[in-house]
Amino acid sequence: MQQQTVIVLDFGGQYNQLIARRVRECHVYCEILSYRTPLEKIKAKNPVGIIFTGGPNSAYLPDSPGIDPAIYTWGVPILGICYGSQLMMHSLGGKVCKAPEREYGKTLVGLDPQSPLFAGLPAQNVCWMSHNDYIQAPAPGFAVSARTPNCPVAAAEDRARGLYCVQFHPEVLHTANGTQMLRNFVYNVCGCTGDWKMDSFVENTVQALREKIGGGRVLLALSGGVDSSVCAAMLARAIGKQLTCVFVDHGLHRKNEAAEVCRVFGPEGDFDLNFVCADARDRFFGKLAGVTAPERKRKIIGEEFIRVFEAEAKKIGAVDYLAQGTIYPDVVESGLGGESAVIKSHHNVGGLPEYVDFKEIIEPLRDLFKDEVRQAGRELGLPESLVSRQPCPGPALAIRIIGEVTPERIALVQDADAIWREEVDRLPFGQRPSQYFAALTNMRSVGVMGDERTYDYAVALRAVTTSDFMTCEVTPLPLDTVMAAANRIVNEVKHVNRVLFDVTTKPPATVEFE
Ligand code: XMP
Repeated sequence: MQQQTVIVLDFGGQYNQLIARRVRECHVYCEILSYRTPLEKIKAKNPVGIIFTGGPNSAYLPDSPGIDPAIYTWGVPILGICYGSQLMMHSLGGKVCKAPEREYGKTLVGLDPQSPLFAGLPAQNVCWMSHNDYIQAPAPGFAVSARTPNCPVAAAEDRARGLYCVQFHPEVLHTANGTQMLRNFVYNVCGCTGDWKMDSFVENTVQALREKIGGGRVLLALSGGVDSSVCAAMLARAIGKQLTCVFVDHGLHRKNEAAEVCRVFGPEGDFDLNFVCADARDRFFGKLAGVTAPERKRKIIGEEFIRVFEAEAKKIGAVDYLAQGTIYPDVVESGLGGESAVIKSHHNVGGLPEYVDFKEIIEPLRDLFKDEVRQAGRELGLPESLVSRQPCPGPALAIRIIGEVTPERIALVQDADAIWREEVDRLPFGQRPSQYFAALTNMRSVGVMGDERTYDYAVALRAVTTSDFMTCEVTPLPLDTVMAAANRIVNEVKHVNRVLFDVTTKPPATVEFE
């Protein structure tokens, strides 16, 4: 039986994957297709609803992304978000133009509680706005269902035709009740019943991996983080000892992490796996010497990872597949998720070299967001301590050092980071951020220590709360915790005389510094 499917048509915005994420959170299967997909192909998916995403263009300009207008008379409900809403209005005869007042950030929006989209929501709701253009007048047949002082049409709908549009972004967590709005659309408007569940995803994926790999051998890039560990568990269930997990010790890990991963996954550890630890510290430091540009660092690390895996595969012999724990945000931010811009090349996606000496790369978690991966890990029976770990990026501390990466600078940030994590870990579990780490800024400043002038580095502390890492809030940690860590860092870590706390959300910053 085919599960009910909602199609997200991607017009190039940064949060498009989040829309799919939120729809799946409502237990409805969701796929993302480019707006360039021919209508016949979209129809062949037999969707019960369509969502148009945001995007950076102006709907009224001639070369802006568009869509076959026959989609509006097809009879399948459509929700347009931001650019998607403007496109729908413009195409159907409404007036879209440059807004006199640009709206950006959290905005109080007056909602019509009679709208099926806003059922059960308060009449005044905080929504995330990010637009330069606006809908000045809705298309014929549409009723306005939300407004702000600067935006006369913050939402509009034509219930008879099943066409809905919202200027704000319900998919972003900064919008209060945003998921409820999407849930209202898929359940109340599209008639979804919620037939997509994680247990069936795990079961189907394990089965599909078994069929695809057959008797072949797989090398898994294991970092010890949540994603690759879940990937290991999934592959182990599918193909058992045909799998070898390779951990690359590049020397850029957090303090004591390499030893810990080898302990957990090695022969003395908790898992019955073929496990190899490849010592590649010299080759990584050699390649990174003198490199300061963030994207260059990421590409070098991406390439070196692959070269190490290729070398290890030769030692094992007859390895067909390389498996990676790539997840959706890695794909999106590397600019491969559809129409969106490259934010940063994740080492395992955009950072991959052009030639990779494996028959194929297998990425069973490529469609999942972080919290979905954690859920999959629980389904697979992984311990909570592993499943709920805070993430650490593959390039590790190399992208938490602004400027050149050297063994000395790595040691410095390792020590500062270990102290910061130790202090934060004193807080009760529920108060801890989703991700917290120290980074080495490239800034040196004057200080005084023991009556002597110092001219040393500033370390930045970061602590963010998020469920999907696509957006995040700064975690309001107790000042005592921050100050205790700062005090210890300047006292215990040589060449640090200043500690800064990063109070920037994502957007406009990212979680990592590079
Ligand atoms: P950003 O910095 O993009 O981070 O806001 C979002 C989440 O992704 C992690 N991250 C990475 N993970 N390889 C990874 O495996 C990478 O190259 C990479 N870059 C960022 C980051 O730690 C955060 O959890």
